[in-house]
Amino acid sequence: MRLFNSILLLAASSFIGLSNASFVTQQHTVSSHSASSALNNNYIIEFSGSNAETDKKKLADLLQDKFSDTSLTFGRLFNHDLMKGVSIQIGSSKGKDGPSLQSIASDEEEQQKLMNDIFKTISESGLVKNIYPIVPVQGPNTQVKVLSENNIDFGDVSPHLQTQVDRVHKELKNTGEGITVGIIDSGIDYTHPALGGGFGEGYKVRYGKDLVGDNYGSTSLVPQPDDDPMDSCAASTGSVGHGTHVAGIIAGKSDNFAGVAPDATLGMWRVFGCGSSTSDAVILDAVLDAYDTGVDIISISIGGFNGWPESSLGSVIQRVISKGVPVIISVGNDGRLGAFSTSSPGITPGAFSVASIDNNKYIASIFSVSGSSETYVYADSEPKVDDIPSGQLVAGDKSVGGDSDACTASTIPSDVKGNLALVQRGTCPFDEKANNLAQAGAIGLVVFDSAGEVALTPSVINAKIPVVGVSHETGLALVKAIKQGDIQLTFNGKEEVRTLPTGNTVSVFSSIGPSYEMGFAPNIAGIGGYVLSTLPQQLGSWGTMSGTSMSAPGVAGSVALYLKQFKDAGKDDISKPAYILEQLQNYASQVAHTNKNPKIETPFSQGAGLVQVYDALTQAPHVSPGHISFNDTINIEKTHTLKLTNNGDSIVSYQLVNNVSVSIEPYQDTTSYLFNEPAEFGTDAAKIRFSKKTIKLSPGKSVDITVTVIPPSIDPKLHIMYGGFITLKSQTKQTKDITIPYAGVVGDQRELPIYSNGTPHLTNATNPLSSYPIWGTNDTFVYDRKSNDSLPPTFMIRLANPTRHIASPVYNERGRRIGDAFVSLEYMARTTSTASGYAGTWDGKYYPYFFNLRMPLPLPVLPGKYQIGLDALKWLGDDDNENDREKWLSPVIQVK
Ligand SMILES: *[C@@H]1O[C@H](CO)[C@@H](O)[C@H](O)[C@H]1NC(C)=O
Ligand SMILES: *[C@@H]1O[C@H](CO)[C@@H](O)[C@H](O)[C@H]1NC(C)=O
Ligand SMILES: *[C@@H]1O[C@H](CO)[C@@H](O)[C@H](O)[C@H]1NC(C)=O
Ligand SMILES: *[C@@H]1O[C@H](CO)[C@@H](O)[C@H](O)[C@H]1NC(C)=O
Ligand SMILES: *[C@@H]1O[C@H](CO)[C@@H](O)[C@H](O)[C@H]1NC(C)=O
Repeated sequence: MRLFNSILLLAASSFIGLSNASFVTQQHTVSSHSASSALNNNYIIEFSGSNAETDKKKLADLLQDKFSDTSLTFGRLFNHDLMKGVSIQIGSSKGKDGPSLQSIASDEEEQQKLMNDIFKTISESGLVKNIYPIVPVQGPNTQVKVLSENNIDFGDVSPHLQTQVDRVHKELKNTGEGITVGIIDSGIDYTHPALGGGFGEGYKVRYGKDLVGDNYGSTSLVPQPDDDPMDSCAASTGSVGHGTHVAGIIAGKSDNFAGVAPDATLGMWRVFGCGSSTSDAVILDAVLDAYDTGVDIISISIGGFNGWPESSLGSVIQRVISKGVPVIISVGNDGRLGAFSTSSPGITPGAFSVASIDNNKYIASIFSVSGSSETYVYADSEPKVDDIPSGQLVAGDKSVGGDSDACTASTIPSDVKGNLALVQRGTCPFDEKANNLAQAGAIGLVVFDSAGEVALTPSVINAKIPVVGVSHETGLALVKAIKQGDIQLTFNGKEEVRTLPTGNTVSVFSSIGPSYEMGFAPNIAGIGGYVLSTLPQQLGSWGTMSGTSMSAPGVAGSVALYLKQFKDAGKDDISKPAYILEQLQNYASQVAHTNKNPKIETPFSQGAGLVQVYDALTQAPHVSPGHISFNDTINIEKTHTLKLTNNGDSIVSYQLVNNVSVSIEPYQDTTSYLFNEPAEFGTDAAKIRFSKKTIKLSPGKSVDITVTVIPPSIDPKLHIMYGGFITLKSQTKQTKDITIPYAGVVGDQRELPIYSNGTPHLTNATNPLSSYPIWGTNDTFVYDRKSNDSLPPTFMIRLANPTRHIASPVYNERGRRIGDAFVSLEYMARTTSTASGYAGTWDGKYYPYFFNLRMPLPLPVLPGKYQIGLDALKWLGDDDNENDREKWLSPVIQVK
């Protein structure tokens, strides 16, 4: 018996599922303990009543009466405004060695029946509104570059100039004092001198707790909470000190370093142990606890690839926001996977959904070349194999500078022996190049990128020699140098501050929006590429990380500065989350597509642009809403109204301009509709009509401006994503321009195919990566439930585009639908080129429809011939419209 887990990441569906027939996602890497074993039989039950304590007691009594022998463990009680509910584990051990469901009902059918009876009782109790399965959440996969030398002035790599934070500190004397930011992350080394040196009353890190304990997510799946959010995980656990880094970005403070709000107070709710996974219920618990503690702001740098906004966590976050607490969330690190690569809960409506922009400066590792005074930048492989030795550099391939350098042993020159080898990336993995060269006796590998000015970070798995990466430019210079004579490279761990070629543009990893429901996300950007901050002292004290995990806390710190400015002044009306977000959006600065292409970056990547805190705090005019989503052209609302309010004390005047951005060409072609990964960009632009071309507005007054879009006239089959910035160009010196980003898609999303790559198909293998037989339309699949040798039917699915729902009707020989094969597949992410897809194994049972909760009551089918449909709801399709489905019918399955 397993928890149905079509969505392993964050998008918990509100239907529970219990089934031998389960669909498992292979989207991205799934941790070694699968969802089914990790979180088996854990649920959050949301009560419909107003007193969770009483409801829990009523439910407990009811269950006790009927199932007195069964172990039912009640966990965290949620009893406040935002959530009335309780977590429950069914069939868990009573005490350490107590009976489990397993021992009470050893027979599988019996267990199934018992589970169904329990859920039937719960759902018919009249007490329950929702039952959410608890799903696992993977920890952020962040690379860290630990600072090795301490002769660097941290001010030289500070992003505060780019975001105007330095002006807020200096000119407004605002450092966020008195504002509390609650962080949900991996814990914190609060003994770090820059983080206050202690925990609790009187310290910078004043609030929070550890909700999980060190072993959670690795050796233990049982949270062992305590009151101390310390992160003491050793480097050997793979831990990088993520939470400590995030905390330093918000409020770190030392002689050489200042976070965005260096005098703010922090709370840390630790939701990761030293392992890499947690559950959405733990995060939900943390959000509620932070809210209960009364923090002013919540910052979350966690998420999973899925653009559907529906989830238990998302709905609680929305409730927290509606109570006046801004929630700042990273939008995701999957930008390389093209458009629609956002994460949940990062796309939660109302949340600050934060994109990443690269720092202008960074700390680079450098090496020198004999006979040259120039130094060059390199990056260690991820993970780092070892320190790369100094030595002579030779060509690692007879025709070095080709894609397939060192991919075969025969093209490797013999003089690599005892030397460093130089090759270009391409054709085969870095490991293969490294190990071919190691075989030939090389002592280290220098690999250069096939394009670009940024040093490549090679990712390796089992490289036998140290590997470092350099940029394409550096690679070409080295190729030239070795052709002219013998050269020695000196690696001595030196670091220096350099200008980043991609500075002040959107980071390559920053996820591209919008949400799967065309919600405007990301909606704001912070600096997240190459950010220096605190690390746990035992991991090196200071280091650089990159990710939207870093840009989100930067924005959280900016919101702390904002609240400091206005909260004390009693200006509650302009201290509401929605207003603050709009104000940050109004005055954000837009970045260029690249530093060589001055066209404006699309709002799908940068949201409103990079936060400019000083302007947001000092400019009085305000426009609402802060952004516009024009949806696709079928659901388009062409006209929107912007309300400009002059909260200042002088007359303002503006001219209205449409400043168009680059467009996105999301798909490879118009047949497969596989996404371009990474995205490609174009110049298709919308026109905007304004009700007024110029505005003059007196203090205290408001005016409405209607804006009407004319999307670019291009082939709707291309689904081009257009955007731009409505700009109120100020006609007075002291007032800044205001921008309102807008974005839309040309085309009808419902027309896009859901399934891809010849899927769904039926097979008897469960591993989609191995070769396997595929049953043709006219073949009969025989499944003998009595035989140990007979493998059950397995369905493989890859999704070109996301779907909210796939139904799985079971048809008998007469073509009558008798029920569903799988409980329900809800809120499914598209399958990226880096993922295998989804695999589902059918156990020969079906679920008749059952109340409105669609509770499972699986019955074995009678021996006979069946066919199973997989009917996917089209993107943005209407669930009640039969035409909005993409249907597939399996070959005949004979169940014996
Ligand atoms: C876009 O249209 C779809 C279909 O009507 C709707 O569900 C969705 O909420 C819309 N999105 C936005 C941001 O308006
Ligand atoms: C368009 O935006 C860019 C980037 O912010 C800015 O440099 C340019 O002046 C803007 N153009 C207009 C017409 O507002
Ligand atoms: C799967 O089916 C194929 C084709 O019927 C058969 O040859 C193969 O043995 C089956 N594999 C297993 C593991 O049963
Ligand atoms: C499947 O069977 C149908 C009806 O008997 C026949 O028309 C069709 O050609 C067959 N398809 C294949 C691929 O054999
Ligand atoms: C099937 O496997 C089970 C468990 O391994 C075993 O107890 C049983 O005897 C097997 N049945 C047959 C028919 O081989």
